[in-house]
Amino acid sequence: EAIEKGGYPHFMLKEIFGQPKSIADSMRGRIHAGNESIQLGGLTGYFDRLADASRIIFIGCGTSWHAGLVAEYLFEELARVNVEVEYASEFRYRNPVIHPGDVVIAISQSGETADTLAAIELAKENGATILGVCNAVGSSIARATHAGAYLHAGPEIGVASTKAFTSQVTVLALMAIALGRRKGTLPDHTFRELLNGLQSLPGQIEQVLRNSDRIKEIGYIFTYARNFIYLGRGVHFPVALEGALKLKEISYIHAEGYPAAEMKHGPIALIDEDMPVIFIATRDSSYEKIVSNIQEVKARKGRVIAIVTEGDQLIKTLVDFTIEIPWTHEMISPLLSVVPLQLLSYYIAVMRGRNVDQPRNLAKSVTVE
Ligand code: G6P
Repeated sequence: EAIEKGGYPHFMLKEIFGQPKSIADSMRGRIHAGNESIQLGGLTGYFDRLADASRIIFIGCGTSWHAGLVAEYLFEELARVNVEVEYASEFRYRNPVIHPGDVVIAISQSGETADTLAAIELAKENGATILGVCNAVGSSIARATHAGAYLHAGPEIGVASTKAFTSQVTVLALMAIALGRRKGTLPDHTFRELLNGLQSLPGQIEQVLRNSDRIKEIGYIFTYARNFIYLGRGVHFPVALEGALKLKEISYIHAEGYPAAEMKHGPIALIDEDMPVIFIATRDSSYEKIVSNIQEVKARKGRVIAIVTEGDQLIKTLVDFTIEIPWTHEMISPLLSVVPLQLLSYYIAVMRGRNVDQPRNLAKSVTVE
């Protein structure tokens, strides 16, 4: 086992540090000739269906559902298509309205999650086209779908999903970009910017990982916090959910992810000097709005850790701690902003003496209801 961990104390840390490679592996061979086209071999013959889809429904559980939420922003923005994101476990029991023109995209690392598999069968019976985004080759979900794209992220052993999440978002981004290109909804310059952005990501993640000592120090300060709130807007709202889930899963600290704009409708009542609040506050379209959300939390004495774009001077003056990440196009920025959150939960869980790779009550793959 020590050999399999490749010198890391836990699989989770190895997998977090493996992300520059796993993301590159998810893109390998899929971006062609001077960034002129994207090819996802497993989806050949299905792009017409996708382009004509009246609606795309993403289904998944846990972290895979969060990847679906990120995809909602990507597909709406880049391909101007109607999107819904569903927990597989709710979808399957709800008698959902499904049309033959719908395309269901099932997202699953293991490809064995029972609820996701059952939701696929239900959608299939109703005539929808089912595509899969799976990591495990030949898995039940991969076999149950009409077509799909594998992640090629390599095996993920740690129960808390890290590299599978970033590979899911990478593959879904490639799909959304390819679809936007085909539908003519994605301007040429944005297309190029996104492809260049994706190709720079492995190097940029290396840069975030080089900052791990600082993240560890911040983790040390907050080791014994009893609660955490994670806030983000737009495409960073699902990142807030994912950051909170990572912390809950492995450190057993209660954490909530929320859209920052919703804070005023409830979570703001929780804020006092004992409440750490993590903001994803990178320089993008909602920057000014998130700055005012930060001010609202500071006015109530909350302790703020902000994930910011490198070089940001303003937020540094407002908050207790900042963690810098490089700039990338907003639509793919979750791939960078999630990494410090993975590391923060990892270090807090280790400092609390938790069993990071095999947290209590959780399973890597949930093959029963
Ligand atoms: C379990 C795992 C999570 C995972 C979820 C969905 O709860 O502990 O890490 O996100 O199942 O799994 P899947 O294999 O379908 O992505």
